Amino acid sequence: MNFEEAKKRAIKLRELINDYRYQYHVLDRSTMSEGASDSLKHELSEIEAKYPELITPDSPTQRVAGEVSKAFRSVAHSSRMLSLNDVFNSDELFAWEARIKKLAKNEIFNFFADLKLDGLACALRYEQGLLTLALTRGDGVRGEDVTINVRTIESVPLKLNDMPDGVVEVRGEIVMYKEKFEQLNAERKANNLPLFANPRNTASGTIRQLDPRLVAKRPLTFHAYDIIQHPKMPKTHMEVYAELNRLGFITNKMAKDFKSLTEITSFIKKWEMDRTSLPYNTDGMVIKINDKSLYKKLGVVGKAPRGAVAYKYPAEEATTVVKDIVISIGRTGAATPVAVFDPVVVSGSTVKHASLHNADEIERKDVRVGDTVIIYKAGDIIPQVERVLKELRPDKTRRYNFEAELEAQYPDMEFYRPEGEAVYRAKGTSDPLLLKRALQHFASKSALDIDTLGEKNVNALVESGMVKDLADIYTLTNEQLLKLDRFAEVSAQKLIDSIASTKTPQLSRFLYALGIRHVGVQTAIDIAQHFKKLDNVGTATLEELKAIDGVGDIVADSLYLWFDEEDNHQLLAKFRSLGVWPADAVQLGGVLTGKSFVITGSLKTMSRDEAANKTRSLGGIYQTSVGKTTDYLVAGANTGMSKLEKASKYNTKVIDEKTFLKLIG
Ligand code: IVH
Repeated sequence: MNFEEAKKRAIKLRELINDYRYQYHVLDRSTMSEGASDSLKHELSEIEAKYPELITPDSPTQRVAGEVSKAFRSVAHSSRMLSLNDVFNSDELFAWEARIKKLAKNEIFNFFADLKLDGLACALRYEQGLLTLALTRGDGVRGEDVTINVRTIESVPLKLNDMPDGVVEVRGEIVMYKEKFEQLNAERKANNLPLFANPRNTASGTIRQLDPRLVAKRPLTFHAYDIIQHPKMPKTHMEVYAELNRLGFITNKMAKDFKSLTEITSFIKKWEMDRTSLPYNTDGMVIKINDKSLYKKLGVVGKAPRGAVAYKYPAEEATTVVKDIVISIGRTGAATPVAVFDPVVVSGSTVKHASLHNADEIERKDVRVGDTVIIYKAGDIIPQVERVLKELRPDKTRRYNFEAELEAQYPDMEFYRPEGEAVYRAKGTSDPLLLKRALQHFASKSALDIDTLGEKNVNALVESGMVKDLADIYTLTNEQLLKLDRFAEVSAQKLIDSIASTKTPQLSRFLYALGIRHVGVQTAIDIAQHFKKLDNVGTATLEELKAIDGVGDIVADSLYLWFDEEDNHQLLAKFRSLGVWPADAVQLGGVLTGKSFVITGSLKTMSRDEAANKTRSLGGIYQTSVGKTTDYLVAGANTGMSKLEKASKYNTKVIDEKTFLKLIG
C-alpha cells in the first residue's frame, strides 16, 4: 500500500471503528463483534506503524475507550487509567519481549500472567480502610462515580481487612458470571422482557443504573488485579496479588509468575482450551513485567504501559480484504464462486478463501473484489463471509457479474441453471475437468482410498485420453503408463497394483465413490446397511429409498435419478465386466453402534479422517457438528470454544483422545 492509499484507508477505518465504539460503549448497542472490530483496529495500528505521520490525536489507537456519561458525577482518576496493547500470536509476544530487553539494558526480569477478564474496569479508593469512591474508567482521565452501585457488590469489601492507614487504591474488573447471566436471562424470558446480549454488556449497563436497588438484584462480582496506591507498596505483581487477597479481594486463582515467555506460551495454550470451564468470560491473557519498579520505569506509550501486553485469544470473527473471486467447478459440475483474500486467523486457524455458494449469494451479499469483509467459521469449521463492510469499499469497484465471469473463466464449457436452483452446472459429465474431479473423488480416502491416484496422476491420465470414465482406470496397462513422462517401471506397476487391489470394495465406499449428489459417507453407509447388495439399490423404487433411515426425500430423488440414467447403467456394466464389484454389506455391529460422535481439534494418534472411519466401522455415527443428537464430542488439542459450548448446551459428553481410544478398544 502506498502512502496515499494508506491515508485513505486509515481515514475510513477510523470512522468505522469510532462508530462501532460509540454504539457499543456509549449506547450499549452492537454493530459488529469485538473480534471484527479488533481486527480493524489491528489493521489501523499496522498502517500507523508504517506511516507514523498518519497518526491523528483522535485515532482509536490513541484513545482510551469509554466516555464519561452525563448521568453520574465525573471525578478525576488519581492516575490515568490505562489500557493494554494487544498481541495476537507468539511472534508478536516475543517481539514485545525483545523491545523490553533492549530498553531494560542488562536488567534481568521475569513475568507475571493472569487471565484477562471480559468485564468493565473499576477503580476503588479506600481511606483508613473504608471504601469512599468507586470510579468507572470513563475516558481514562476522569471516570463516573458509581460508588452507590458498587457498594451493592458483595465481593467488594466495604472495609479492608487490617485497615491500613492512609489511602489504598485498588483496580480490577467487574464481571457477571456466566451462570448468573443465564439465570437472569431465563427470568427475563419468563417475564417477557427483552434478553441481554452478553455478560459484559449486562455488567456495564447494570453499573450505570440509576437505582442501586436494581443493581443489587443483578449479581455482579469484582476481581482485583492491581494496587495503585498503598502505604506499603508491594514490589512485584506477584506480591500485589498476595496483598489484594490479604486485604479481602478476589483475584484469579491461576495468576502467577513465570521465568520465561516460553513457559507462558504453554500457559496461554492451556487456558485457551480450558477457559470455557471458568465461571466468567475471558478473552485473553495479560502478561506483565513482574517487577513493579522496572514496569514503572518502562513508562507509557500512548494509552498503554510498555511493560504489559494482552495476548488476545483468536477471535471467532475477523476482517480481511477480498483479492479475487474465482469460480471452482465441483465434481457434480456445480460452479461455486470462491472469495480469495489476504490470509487471516479466525477461530485459531489461518483461512485464505471462503465459498460464496452461488450467484444468488454473491448478489445478496454484494461481495466485490477489493471489499473488506467479516469472516467467521460456520460450525467452527467452514469459513464464511458474514458481510461486506460497505463503509470501507474502495471507489472504483464493480458488482460481480457471475455469468460473465463464468464465461471468462471457462470459455470452453457450457453451463445451465436447472429450474428452481441457484447453482449453475457444467453440461456433460465427460467434460475433462469434471472427469478429473470425479476420479479424484473416486480415489479419495473415504471412497476407494487409492493413494497413488492423486491429483497429478489423475490429470495426466485424463489429459492423455487413456481414462475416459471412472471404470477405465481398471484397464490401464504397464505399456500405456510408460508412455507418460510421469511413470517409470516401478511407479507404473505400483499404480496398477494399487488400483487392482480395490476391485472388491465395501458397498458403502463404492456408493460414496460414485459421486452421486447428496450421497455422503454416512448416507452411503445407511443405504448399504439397508440394501446389502448394489443390485438391490439400483432396482429399489423411490418409495423404498425414501423409507430408509437417514435418507430423506432429496437423497432418495438423487439416487433414483442416478440409477435411472442410461450412462450410469453402462458405467456399472463396464465395472462388472472388468471384475470390479462391491462386496455385499455385512451387518455392522460394534461397540459404538447407535452412538454419534463429533471429533474436533487435532488428535495425537490418528488423523481426524482415520478416527471418523474407525467410528463408522464400529457402528458409530460420525457427525461434523455438535447438535441435539450428538452423544460424544472427542476434543483433541486446540478445540474451539464454540464446540464446547454447544456440547454443554446439548448435553453432549466431552471426552479426550485417551477416553476415545479406550471406547474403541
Ligand atoms: S492489568 C494497564 N489484568 O483489560 C492496565 N487488566 O485493555 C493493566 N483487564 O484496562 C491492567 N483482566 O480493564 C489487568 N487480569 C487483568 C485484567 C485486566 C481484564 C482489563 C482492564 C484493562 C484492560 C486492558
